[in-house]
Amino acid sequence: TFVVGEDCIKCKHTDCVEVCPVDCFYEGPNFLVIHPDECIDCALCEPECPVDAIFSEDELPEDQQVFLELNAELAEVWPNITEMKPAPADAEEWAGKPNKLALLER
Ligand code: F3S
Repeated sequence: TFVVGEDCIKCKHTDCVEVCPVDCFYEGPNFLVIHPDECIDCALCEPECPVDAIFSEDELPEDQQVFLELNAELAEVWPNITEMKPAPADAEEWAGKPNKLALLER
């Protein structure tokens, strides 16, 4: 499965949802997640993310392992998103910033 990691927080560009053939993205206030049981491992979303926030499960960095659980958990409670929408106005400022997990809104 593919996993949305920390770099998505407060960036949320949503380019990823446009290419997903199975519509397995779910949207929170400032982050998106992939439903691990719905993802078909097509890999189409990974190169679409402008901030490289999406990883194959196998390539998820050590320090982002918590996002495996977070994607699974939040995909069950957040609404499905299937169309791109404008990113937050300050998305560029947050690109690549460290330690954004504490800013994740539920
Ligand atoms: Fe997030 Fe990148 Fe998608 S910032 S919403 S994973 S395009």
